This record gives sequence, structure tokens and C-alpha cells, in this order.
Amino acid sequence: MSHTKIRKCLFPAAGYGTRFLPATKAIPKEMLPVLTKPLLQYGVEEAISAGLDTMAIVTGRGKRAIEDHFDISYELEHQIKGTSKEHYLTEIRAVITKCTFSYTRQVEMKGLGHAILSGQTLIGDEPFAVILADDLCDNDEGPTVLNQMVKLYEKHRCSIVAIEEVPIEETHKYGVIKAHEIEKNLFEIEDMVEKPDPKDAPSNLAIIGRYILTPDIFEILEQTLPGKNGEIQITDALRTQAQKGKVLGFKFAGRRFDCGSVDGFVEATNYFYAK
Ligand code: UTP
Repeated sequence: MSHTKIRKCLFPAAGYGTRFLPATKAIPKEMLPVLTKPLLQYGVEEAISAGLDTMAIVTGRGKRAIEDHFDISYELEHQIKGTSKEHYLTEIRAVITKCTFSYTRQVEMKGLGHAILSGQTLIGDEPFAVILADDLCDNDEGPTVLNQMVKLYEKHRCSIVAIEEVPIEETHKYGVIKAHEIEKNLFEIEDMVEKPDPKDAPSNLAIIGRYILTPDIFEILEQTLPGKNGEIQITDALRTQAQKGKVLGFKFAGRRFDCGSVDGFVEATNYFYAK
């Protein structure tokens, strides 16, 4: 199974998004727009750029807003057909024709690891990508972050996490790795810890919201006990996977904006507006 091409991308979008209340009361934070495009659409476009055509979305509430977004709105199409406004729908139409969407619900919010496990029914027994749409990535100079990772997967055939150097005082917001560099920007992971205090952090290399996972991660997640904050953590499952086999950390080319925080969201908005 480890030789299968990656086709599917999982989008966990069931979190409460409390940092964006009240905006996230009735819609998921993944539907908040940077300029005119929802975060989730940026994520789907990144997955398409990496050659993926099957989008699997784990929702909690606000499922309808997501489903309606990635569907044709006949009324709207009819209204603006042939008018000067038609171009506003070009990008979303392209997304809809290039890939399929399927949905499942995470019934209880028991953490990111649990959300990924909830997606097993949509993924099955094949390697897959995960995008956390609230981490918005952009690479001006070349291939998108997920595209870079899919290429790496084709060579290494193991789970890969995107990593970024963060200021040491911010390690408590991330999964942090202990690793050695095996080639430029590529690290073999020895250990990792979820949201460590700076004094306990094994490095300043933080995991951000892009992953390639091999399907054995599901079995590991089933066995993974609640960790930090009582949630089932993907970091803990990846730690087990790294100790049993191989997991790589990849320092990607490009920028990442933490759109789960107001500061990051504003930064992303200014960046894309200037672009
Ligand atoms: P966050 O840690 O950003 O949590 O989740 P959150 O609940 O969405 O936001 P805050 O902290 O309350 O403001 C990281 C990603 O994991 C998903 C979220 O939707 C987000 O994409 N997630 C998290 C789930 O799908 N289910 C969970 O149980 C937890």
C-alpha cells in the first residue's frame, strides 16, 4: 500500500474556533474569508495544485455552509450569467469541476487526532494529505507547500510533517520535534511533544498544518490515549509512528499565516491584498 499515489486530502474543520467568536458561532472558522475567498477554498486549491482530486472534510457544525460553498448555486449562476459579474465565480467553478467532495462528522470534539481518525471512513487504506485550512500557506517562488510535500513523499514513502522555525517563547502553541537533519531542510524525527513550555521544548522546530500520513496512522490513533488538554493528539500518534518506523519533518519553502489567531488573520489579509 505504501506505493500508492496520493489522491485524497483530509480537512479537519470541526474545531470550535473559540478565538474567533462570535464570527464562528454558526459557521466554521475555515469558512472565514481572507479577502473574498474562504480559508477552506485556499486549502482545496493547494490540494489541487499538488495533484489531489478527492477532498474529504471532517465537519462538526456549519456543515451546510461548507457543502453549499463547494456546490453549484443554480439561482446565482442564472442571475449573473452573461453579466459583468460572472468572473467572480470563475475560481470556485474551477474547483468544483476538478474534484469531488465528501463529508463526515466528528461527533465529539476530542482533538485533532480524533478528527483525523473520524476521517478514516473517507480515506480508507491509502496514504493521504491533511490540510488545516486555518494555517494558510503561500509560496510566491514555486510549488505550493503541499505540492513540495507530495513530491517528497514519492521519494521517501513515509509520513511527513511540515515544520517551521518559531520563536522559542511560542513553542507552547505547537507540536515540537526533536530531530536530526538528513539533507537540506529535511529532518528525521526522533521524538515530538505537543505544546511544550519553552523550557521543555526539544527544539524550535514546530509542526504546522500540513501533513502526509500513511494509513497505519489510523490504527495508532485508535490506541492513542488523550494527551495534552485531554485531547487525542496527532502529535502523540506521529511520535509512536516515528519510533516504530520513520517520520520526516520538512522545512518547506514559502510562508505560513496562523489564521486561527486574529493577528495571523490580519497579516494574511494584508499580504494577499498587497499581492
Ligand atoms: P485548533 O487547535 O486551532 O482549535 O484546531 P479550534 O478549536 O479550531 O480553535 P480555537 O483554539 O478554539 O480558537 C486545529 C485544527 O484542528 C481542527 C480545527 O478545526 C482546526 O482546523 N479540530 C480540532 C477538529 O477538527 N476537531 C477537534 O476536535 C479539534
